Amino acid sequence: MSASTLSVAAQRLKGKVAIITGAASGIGLGAAKLFNRHGANVIIADIQDELGLQVCRELSSNKDGSIEYIHCDVTSEDDIRRMVDRAMNDHGKLDIMFSNAGIVDMSTSKLLQFEKSTFERIINVNLVGMFLAAKHAARVMIPAKRGSILFTASTASLMGGVCDHAYCSSKHAVAGLTKSMAAELGAFGIRVNCISPWAVRTPQLRRYSGLDDEQLEAWFGRFSNLKGLTLEAEDIAEAALYLASDESKYVSGHNLAVDGGCSVMDSGLNMFREPLLSPESKFPEHS
Ligand SMILES: NC(=O)c1ccc[n+]([C@@H]2O[C@H](COP(=O)([O-])OP(=O)(O)OC[C@H]3O[C@@H](n4cnc5c(N)ncnc54)[C@H](O)[C@@H]3O)[C@@H](O)[C@H]2O)c1
Repeated sequence: MSASTLSVAAQRLKGKVAIITGAASGIGLGAAKLFNRHGANVIIADIQDELGLQVCRELSSNKDGSIEYIHCDVTSEDDIRRMVDRAMNDHGKLDIMFSNAGIVDMSTSKLLQFEKSTFERIINVNLVGMFLAAKHAARVMIPAKRGSILFTASTASLMGGVCDHAYCSSKHAVAGLTKSMAAELGAFGIRVNCISPWAVRTPQLRRYSGLDDEQLEAWFGRFSNLKGLTLEAEDIAEAALYLASDESKYVSGHNLAVDGGCSVMDSGLNMFREPLLSPESKFPEHS
């Protein structure tokens, strides 16, 4: 559906101001497009400047809401502070912080081969980066006594065996951060939630697996619970739209799994114990 086919009445984020980190590609990009179509003024924050600016050029013809790009490394508190201050200067408010930027490193899943530096790098982006984005969003949302803070967690926030130790730890911690922050910020009318997607074929996944979409689909399809359907970045964007909008006005502290029921199965799912997915080879085609 194109932007013009949504009537103003149907726009669920009309006039809202949203920052989305890691929005130059993948899940964040899907959310930027959908939020913008629903009338939000969207600030795309990423470290891929060329891609972020290109996305802005493509979406700027959409008259429903403004769209701008800002360079922001989520591990830098200065970058985060500047980004939030710019949103306040340009728009006078911040309604939504979608803290989505995250990384994965599938070079090994074996504990004894896992380097401390790799562990720290992943925790720094996936956890510290999420904490900083939420902290500075709260700084401007508390005086306004409203706001929605959202994190992208993962199925790895609910179970082990689906990714490496650092990633799994970081995403469990994001689910904890969601509860902890929701408990404090509720006093100010601010909601805090996270979304836990199952595998989505995004540039990140393609890069680390070396597989194309068809191969990824075949591989993850083997482990998925809900058959005959493919999880897309747009499906995660729809969940984010719900949690960002006033339709979820009383939902806070929630971890919304968008995983086709994968995390509630008693399947003994352990993708890294599969003979075809040895920790070293990552994916069967590489063994
Ligand atoms: N793709 C999946 O299967 C999947 C599943 C569950 C959760 N997730 C989570 O979804 C989120 C988005 O991942 P994706 O799959 O869309 O990957 P992606 O690589 O397509 O997008 C991630 C974006 O984050 C940006 N980024 C990375 N480090 C950054 C930093 N330090 N500061 C600012 N931006 C940075 C990248 O440039 C990129 O544009 C991540 O938190 C990831 O852990 C992904």
